[in-house]
Amino acid sequence: MICVAIANQKGGVGKTTTAINVATAMAAIGWKTLLIDLDPQGNASTGLGIPADARETSSYDVLVDNADIAACLKGSDIPGLDVVPATQDLSGAEIELVSAEDRVFRLRNALAQSNAYDICFIDCPPSLGLLTLNALAAADTLLVPLQCEFFALEGLSQLLQTVEHVTERFNANLGIVGIALTMFDRRNRLTDQVADDVRDCLGNLVFEAVIPRNVRLSEAPSHGLPALIYDHNCSGSRAYINLAKELIGRLQETRKAA
Ligand SMILES: Nc1ncnc2c1ncn2[C@@H]1O[C@H](COP(=O)(O)OP(=O)(O)O)[C@@H](O)[C@H]1O
Ligand SMILES: [Mg+2]
Repeated sequence: MICVAIANQKGGVGKTTTAINVATAMAAIGWKTLLIDLDPQGNASTGLGIPADARETSSYDVLVDNADIAACLKGSDIPGLDVVPATQDLSGAEIELVSAEDRVFRLRNALAQSNAYDICFIDCPPSLGLLTLNALAAADTLLVPLQCEFFALEGLSQLLQTVEHVTERFNANLGIVGIALTMFDRRNRLTDQVADDVRDCLGNLVFEAVIPRNVRLSEAPSHGLPALIYDHNCSGSRAYINLAKELIGRLQETRKAA
């Protein structure tokens, strides 16, 4: 199983939208896919049609009570896509785990027991706290959604420092599969400029596929559906399909190299 963390400590940059739609694309082409919701807000769970009152078990149980992933799963409406949902309890996990010696490795240990999937995505909360550290310690690689806005690069350097810290201390094998530009607006010269700057600065690390600002992407979660199902032909869905294709190519390359 390949494990991809989707992280950026900024909120509202498209982590959850990316997690839901890329996971859906992978499931659609037949990869057995798991999505772990690691944000106490539970937006990925909601966006995949799992209402709060249906989350009897969750990622909180995996992290805090060492529950098996297999015991905390929910199916989704998308064949081949399972979810470990998140509940608000998860916001207390950072404190509850503070004295646990293996607190950074809870998710990694749980995933080591789970081999029913080809790929696992972890939707991280908007912080660099213990939850995100658990994701980075468990992941093979990191996908960073980056909103095309003026301060985008500033937050990125902090994230990259955290990745360096994690590779030194917790997970020497952690890679960065790519940076995905999100909420791109063709009509806004500033987003254009930011996208160019990011490519100048980070080169090939940036995916070719750019996710446009698209209202269908933001409507889909209120229907409990991935945009790919809600409107598979909208510009946002088409961009996520391209991103998923590129992701597969990059994952297969790193696999070959390993
Ligand atoms: N490309 C996009 N175009 C329009 N709205 C988007 C796009 N990506 C995300 N959104 C909306 O922006 C908000 C934040 O996105 P989300 O994926 O939840 O970000 P994060 O998980 O990083 O906080 C949500 O309301 C989402 O529906
Ligand atoms: Mg989110």
